[in-house]
Amino acid sequence: MTHKMNNTMSEATLGGQFTFPGTPLTVQRIGYGAMQLAGPGVFGPPKDPDAAVAVLREAVAAGVNHIDTADFYGPHVTNQIIRQALHPYPKELVIVTKLGARRPSDGSWQSAISPQDLTAAVHDNLRNLGLDALDIVNYRAMGAIHGPAEGSIAGEVTVLADLRRKGLIRHIGVSNVTAAQVAEAQVITDIVCVQNNYNLAHRDDDAMIEDLARQGIAYVPFFPLGGFTPLQSSTLSAVADRLGATPMQVALAWLLHRSPNILLIPGTSSVAHLRENLAAGQMSLSPQSLAELDGIAGT
Ligand SMILES: NC(=O)c1ccc[n+]([C@@H]2O[C@H](COP(=O)([O-])OP(=O)(O)OC[C@H]3O[C@@H](n4cnc5c(N)ncnc54)[C@H](OP(=O)(O)O)[C@@H]3O)[C@@H](O)[C@H]2O)c1
Repeated sequence: MTHKMNNTMSEATLGGQFTFPGTPLTVQRIGYGAMQLAGPGVFGPPKDPDAAVAVLREAVAAGVNHIDTADFYGPHVTNQIIRQALHPYPKELVIVTKLGARRPSDGSWQSAISPQDLTAAVHDNLRNLGLDALDIVNYRAMGAIHGPAEGSIAGEVTVLADLRRKGLIRHIGVSNVTAAQVAEAQVITDIVCVQNNYNLAHRDDDAMIEDLARQGIAYVPFFPLGGFTPLQSSTLSAVADRLGATPMQVALAWLLHRSPNILLIPGTSSVAHLRENLAAGQMSLSPQSLAELDGIAGT
């Protein structure tokens, strides 16, 4: 895919700013998801560690101040690369991590949600990122194969709230969760963000996004670029061609238009793709384009 938009970035173009509710943490709405920096299958080191470092430095140089990660990416590898590339961190950088999984030596994804697991994971993140406290930690529920599954997350969120009282975590979010689970977590502690699977084609969370927007809570879609059927992709490509942009840029710009509480964390291991993704913040979509894009979910 070619990069069709101007590469010149400034902070003003990264989708504008968002402040996590009840926090001093303000970020540009276009951030960066670090999952792609580990090796294949999010396991082991990347083929080209220097390239991974370059992507992170380029992102921060372009004004990105919100990086999403997890110590179970690699495991440990992604956080170690972030530290190598960016430590000591710029004071405006917000690193958001997540807990709830571990990666045995076979590369599988196992849940790790006992109080001991969650506490150990906080310390893994602190050590590998080189921090004394974590800005925002998401409790990532394992859910079902294709998404969240109902069931209490009160025990796990309570552990995070205790770690927050101890000063190891500053703010708490939840991930891969249902609306009922968000509400349950909010009874236990302040929730500043929700990270779920959402994009142009996968819109199960439309109502949740509106509800969180009313409360000023960030909604951070994962897989912002993924899972389009050929028909959906062809509609997206047609709109993108008309706008002189790439389909990925249009998918990201649509998310920015969708709701002001949506923060983007597109993942890439490529500087060229990073630049392309950041340039999505400069796009404006007409009502006609938005209507066509809104139709994609129904196809
Ligand atoms: N909470 C959760 O359960 C959860 C789950 C998954 C992900 N996440 C977080 O969400 C972030 C985003 O998710 P993701 O990285 O899985 O998916 P994504 O952002 O939807 O897509 C990433 C994929 O798209 C490719 N890509 C990125 N920009 C591109 C471009 N401009 N043109 C063409 N291809 C492009 C990347 O390949 P290249 O490397 O070749 O660019 C990669 O294969 C992750 O990094 C992670 O931090 C959270």
